Amino acid sequence: MPFVPVGVLLRDAEEQGYAVGAFNCNNMELVQAIVAAAEAERSPVILQASQGAIKYAGLAYLVAMARAAARGVRVPVALHLDHGTSFEQAVRCVAAGFSSVMIDGSHLPLEENIALTRRVVEVARAAGVSVEGELGRIMGAEDEIKVEEREAFFTDPAEARYFVERTGVDSLAVSVGTAHGRYQGEPRLDFERLSRIKELVRVPLVLHGASGVPEEAIREAVRRGVRKINIDTEIREAFVGALRRELGAHPQEIDPRKILGPAREAAVEVIRAKMRLFGCAGKARV
Ligand code: G3H
Ligand code: 13P
Ligand code: ZN
Repeated sequence: MPFVPVGVLLRDAEEQGYAVGAFNCNNMELVQAIVAAAEAERSPVILQASQGAIKYAGLAYLVAMARAAARGVRVPVALHLDHGTSFEQAVRCVAAGFSSVMIDGSHLPLEENIALTRRVVEVARAAGVSVEGELGRIMGAEDEIKVEEREAFFTDPAEARYFVERTGVDSLAVSVGTAHGRYQGEPRLDFERLSRIKELVRVPLVLHGASGVPEEAIREAVRRGVRKINIDTEIREAFVGALRRELGAHPQEIDPRKILGPAREAAVEVIRAKMRLFGCAGKARV
């Protein structure tokens, strides 16, 4: 099956009140793990690649691997650029066959973020590709800022409405208390803010930095309108954890398949559990 625009997947999610999982990949085993998990759970799925992933694996390789994986299954698969920061990068991904791109201008002043995002929307829309924007900054969990200071970066609901109206984005990544990477303590989400944004904004909302967020908080975020949830760190932990175990248990092993195979399996299990948690398991429509 060819890639499905993320906008289409999120429309179904909105209608039925669940979130679609978006999982980061940067090598063949991760692409396979994500799509195998989707097939096993009968779930729609978003494969996403960051600019770092594209630099590591190569754009053509990522697209070809994702295409091969999508062709082999009967569940909807989207290919999405995660945290694109330049117009040129977004256009390269549209041209290469991605079905969705994120343009992350969240570090820019509001009007500059709007101008950049709008330019990407114009090009992407002409190609039938969905666009995710970001307003409010989602920091790294390891960034040295205090909890109170972090709130200064949260998404302002009125600004979110203005941003969506001015840019025409298909979905919006919001900053409501999550962060990328491993949390030091337990993350606390600002659910009131999330609900207020949901009231004011018509497009589906995206939760980044969802690794390590307690299950009940994820369920509550979905109840309050989150429709796409990004997971990277927990997949890395499972994959590299299994690699370490295999290498420790078999120090003489020199066949990469014997080490990477179990790592791929460990990633599949984590992704399947997330699909059940997000409510997208069993929702594949073909
Ligand atoms: O949000 C960022 C993703 O976890 C991708 O991370 O830039 O190290 O590939 P990366
Ligand atoms: P985590 O690495 O915290 O799961 O965040 C993933 C993400 O938001 C990718 O955009
Ligand atoms: Zn992110």
